[in-house]
Amino acid sequence: MYPTDRPRRLRTDGIRPLVSESSLSASDLVAPVFVDATTDERVPIESMPGHERVPHDEAVARVEEVRETGVEAVILFGIPETKDPTGSRAYADDGVVQRAIRRISGATDAYVIGDVCLCEYTDHGHCGVIEPAAESDPTLTVRNDETLDLLAETAVSQADAGADMVAPSAMADGQVGAIRSALDDAGHEDVALMSYAAKYESAFYGPFRDAADGAPAFGDRRHYQMDPANRREALREARLDAEAGADVLMVKPGLPYLDVVSDLRREFDRPIAAYNVSGEYAMLHAAAEKGWLDLEAVAHESLVSLKRAGADLIVTYFAEDLADRL
Ligand code: PBG
Repeated sequence: MYPTDRPRRLRTDGIRPLVSESSLSASDLVAPVFVDATTDERVPIESMPGHERVPHDEAVARVEEVRETGVEAVILFGIPETKDPTGSRAYADDGVVQRAIRRISGATDAYVIGDVCLCEYTDHGHCGVIEPAAESDPTLTVRNDETLDLLAETAVSQADAGADMVAPSAMADGQVGAIRSALDDAGHEDVALMSYAAKYESAFYGPFRDAADGAPAFGDRRHYQMDPANRREALREARLDAEAGADVLMVKPGLPYLDVVSDLRREFDRPIAAYNVSGEYAMLHAAAEKGWLDLEAVAHESLVSLKRAGADLIVTYFAEDLADRL
């Protein structure tokens, strides 16, 4: 009448670590860094406590702060000095991210990843070149094929500046192939590519859009980012990117999409990344501020859950805080 099989035997302090199936270490984490060409001092990002936009002169110092915690990889986002319809500061040799990459890769051993997208650089805030009539008819948004050339140019300019990896996040069809062949033609065969393969049209990006000043001026991104209702479609997106040469496949957001992380882990033999996005960070901070959640515990549990679902690496705003304690 009593159980013979007792899982609780393996839950004592002595054996728990021996049978633990997932672990988290600083070397799994990538920290986002925001470089802002419009400021000469650090500007706190209100909806993302502990994060700031830093001016050029502070970019190296900011990355050194990250590395002191044990996190070696950063992904860079830029706030340009000016914006225009085609996002030309995204692919300028002296653009905000290109200049930051030059400095950081010259002065540190950090692994530097460049986010490749146009939304922070276009005056309309969309991730590519838009249809002329899009403002009055938001069902027309980004012109896919014209956008590909600009994304490829952006990636090559980041690689020229010294990026170790580029990460296209515009959700343009064919972006991985276009970028991979442009990188190879420019002699950057060794620059790695992490695709935001399954990037959903998510309301969890809200705080980031404040941080990077990249909210669309009209309409939304549902004509190019994925429908949150879709699971099978993530496999299709990931397959296209893997076939086009993506070295790492990313799912974004993270926690609400653990099923997708798990599917990709099972179907592909490439490393899987998860992006624990700004809204996932902000909501835990907000609840902790009210005393409703233990911030460190829920942050750790969130990231362990992403690992358990199958992520090899995690882009997260918690990177520094957690790494410091691991
Ligand atoms: C650029 C980009 C976005 C994020 C990462 N790269 C914004 C978006 O797609 O709207 C969001 C990251 C986050 O919320 O932490 N396209």
